Amino acid sequence: MMQVSFTPLNLPRTGVVVLLARNSATLGEIGREADDALGGALTRLMKNSRFRGEKGQMLEFAAPDLGRASRLILCGIGKPADLSTHDLELLGGRVVARLIKSGEKSISVVVDDFDGVTLKPQDMAAHVAMGAQLRLYRFDKYRTTLRDVDQTSLERITVLTRAAKRSETLYASYKDVLEGVYFTRDLVSEPANALTPAVFAERLQALAEHGLTITTLGPEEMLSMGMGTLMGVAQGSANPPRLVAMEYRGPGTSKNSRPLAFIGKGVTFDTGGISLKPPGGMEDMKFDMGGAGIVGGTMLALAKRKAKAHVVGLVGLVENMPSGTAQRPGDVVTSMSGQTVEVINTDAEGRLVLADVMHYAQETFNPRLMVDLATLTGAIIISLGNEYAGMFCNDDALADSINKAGQTTGDKVWRMPIGPAYDRLINSQIADMKNVGPREGGSITAAQFLQRFVKDGRPWAHLDVAGTVWAKSDNPLYPKGATGYGVRLLDQLVRDIAE
Ligand code: BES
Ligand code: MN
Ligand code: ZN
Repeated sequence: MMQVSFTPLNLPRTGVVVLLARNSATLGEIGREADDALGGALTRLMKNSRFRGEKGQMLEFAAPDLGRASRLILCGIGKPADLSTHDLELLGGRVVARLIKSGEKSISVVVDDFDGVTLKPQDMAAHVAMGAQLRLYRFDKYRTTLRDVDQTSLERITVLTRAAKRSETLYASYKDVLEGVYFTRDLVSEPANALTPAVFAERLQALAEHGLTITTLGPEEMLSMGMGTLMGVAQGSANPPRLVAMEYRGPGTSKNSRPLAFIGKGVTFDTGGISLKPPGGMEDMKFDMGGAGIVGGTMLALAKRKAKAHVVGLVGLVENMPSGTAQRPGDVVTSMSGQTVEVINTDAEGRLVLADVMHYAQETFNPRLMVDLATLTGAIIISLGNEYAGMFCNDDALADSINKAGQTTGDKVWRMPIGPAYDRLINSQIADMKNVGPREGGSITAAQFLQRFVKDGRPWAHLDVAGTVWAKSDNPLYPKGATGYGVRLLDQLVRDIAE
């Protein structure tokens, strides 16, 4: 991460100077000061370019005659009244994306005042820094050679604002969330030979140092507890499964409070099992632990920022492999809940894993609500692409809260339907249910399957994050690869409904 500082508004004269301009290419007070110092060169440049100060626009001014500044970048913010914290993150992220390997070490972003802005100055400043840090992430662990020119040159970002002290306080809690996002991205980026269920569990165990109470179950315990659907998936792999529960009790929570439960699918690699996937793109299935990665990063973020809430995170960690011990299509397994499942397709394994983890979560922690996160279906990518996660929910209030947290953070969700007509589609001829329905509505029948493991209609939401945890190309807030999607969403949900 970069070193971040917040200082009072003035015109910086070193490194990269970033100035904001509103729509119709209008500068703020510090912007005008810079323009004057440069003899009107900024106005001239804007006039002779297509830069109009619209959101996302940028205009670079090389080697300005301004102290020791190396370059000056104008960033558009559009109409001040339409400006959101997410826009400022995008702005910070875009600046970093442009400069990450430029050789520049230091960026100063001037968050000038503009009439009509409804955001507080500290919100603006802290989110610029947040966006910059989000975009700076890289996963270079497995490179043995990295040429100097390919290394990140950026070291510091200074945000100049009317509310330096308040920005600092606000950013301090965001910094902890960033640590969570980075932790998740590190996990999701790891190849499956390095991140086996056991190794994953160890990485989560290490979070105990932040005050989380960690419980890990191995295969013998899970078998004796009757977790037949999870163990059926695990039985084909030489790498034994784990179930990890991470409990966090924040300051001020009462002894007998009921926690929120976050539950993650942690398939460290999904070959499909005996219902083997085709080889093209199968390497992507290392990110099939993305839901568990989100839960791990969220628990770290909550513990680090000392959230005033009671939250438990649970993950089911297994590898889905074809082998002589693998389960077969047609096998019937019994879940910990007692319900039986006919395994029509061994590639619909995520729901089998979650069924037991969800049941265990309810038995052990009696949570007041549950949110599960899973890279559950390819069908959700067909529905929503990579822009939104699919949300399936049995409770309108919870759905609204998650939706709102999505809008606040930019980790967006789109609500999908559930209901008895879909539920019928997974009835089995010989068992209580089968693990797949017809091809049509594949994400919905997957959600229906999970809902059969929710006890007594307690509030539950399922987020199908198959399209959002991994990016095939760069974005203003993350380089291609692991996005860290979901950590900020869950953190915000906790802020909104539990603190
Ligand atoms: N992990 C996959 C879903 C997935 C696919 C995630 C592509 C990310 C990208 C899941 O276990 C799976 O294989 N689902 C099947 C279900 C089918 C067999 C009913 C699918 O989506 O094809
Ligand atoms: Mn699968
Ligand atoms: Zn899977």
